[in-house]
Amino acid sequence: MGKISAAITAVGKYVPDFVLTNKELETMVDTNDEWITTRTGIKERRILKGEGKGTSFMAIKAAEELIQKRGIDPKEIDLVIVGTATPDLQVAATAAFVASQIGATNAFAFDLEAACSSFLYGMSTASSYIESGRYKKVLLIGADKMSSILDYTDRTTCIIFGDGAGAALFEPNEEGLGFQDEYLRSDGIGRNFLKIDAGGSLLPASEETVKNKQHFVFQDGKSVYKYAVSNMADVSAKIMERNNLEEKDVDWLVPHQANKRIIDATASRMGVDSSKVMMNIQKYGNTTSATLPLLLADYEKQLKKGDNLVFAAFGGGFTWGSIYLKWAYNS
Ligand code: UT7
Repeated sequence: MGKISAAITAVGKYVPDFVLTNKELETMVDTNDEWITTRTGIKERRILKGEGKGTSFMAIKAAEELIQKRGIDPKEIDLVIVGTATPDLQVAATAAFVASQIGATNAFAFDLEAACSSFLYGMSTASSYIESGRYKKVLLIGADKMSSILDYTDRTTCIIFGDGAGAALFEPNEEGLGFQDEYLRSDGIGRNFLKIDAGGSLLPASEETVKNKQHFVFQDGKSVYKYAVSNMADVSAKIMERNNLEEKDVDWLVPHQANKRIIDATASRMGVDSSKVMMNIQKYGNTTSATLPLLLADYEKQLKKGDNLVFAAFGGGFTWGSIYLKWAYNS
């Protein structure tokens, strides 16, 4: 038996129907389509509407699409990981609810919170479980209902984020495909720049915190931008160097969709042509944990077995990193 690597064998996605355009945002805050487009690359984002619908609603839909495409019995799934910064509830794991709802009754399940790097870190976790031989099917979902933590009177944050979910199934591979290498980093200095102040153990919810709008996302965009540009480019260049990948060897850059300018800078540092850069920020904005699997789902038809993919993400914490993975199937 050859060495076992962890391959992605199927993907699924879900985005809500409601489209919030830049034009519509112009009627809500002091902003304009031109500013948003040139500064971020975003044209529109999806918003999950309807009472009683949390992040799990989208995670379940993405997982169900994947299960149907792969044609597996959900009872075969060993583990469900939900990467999210917006769990349904503070204490009960969203992943446990998702696993039950999709019929993954033999799985255990947990959430993974690393802000915008949740899916990237989850890829590392899922791959480790497969490579060790401990489990055969790990379902990794990235899902966020960012609209639940945004202040729609704050033009510095509400224009950036959107809602969505994506899923990927990790299974053993003996052809050397799938996960190859990772370079993951974090730095606690980041919590000064991108955070929700209240509702956690440091500052529990109170009338005061609600009045002060401390349950919404705060971002010092300029500072985060500086860290994101240099760090995302650094780790991507590092993973190429460590694996002797030249620009011609990289088939796809799969970058977190936070800002088109950050993505362009990363691609340029890697020397990768824009035709090889996955991009859907214009349609969905920054969906936090969902950006990477949404890209995989949107580009799935263009991916070929053996393609070299370099993933890169940067997010709150700070958390960031890069993963090198060989695509394992033709669709
Ligand atoms: O995914 C997790 C990690 N997050 C990121 O990677 C996000 C990183 N940061 C960014 O992408 C960018 O910093 C933003 C898109 C958030 C902001 O872009 P920027 O080019 O850094 O703008 P800025 O914050 O420097 O603001 C420039 C100007 C300011 O006006 P003054 O002070 O120059 O008069 C802002 O008040 O633009 C103003 N501004 C806006 N104008 C119109 C800020 N937000 C808006 C807006 N519409 N929505």
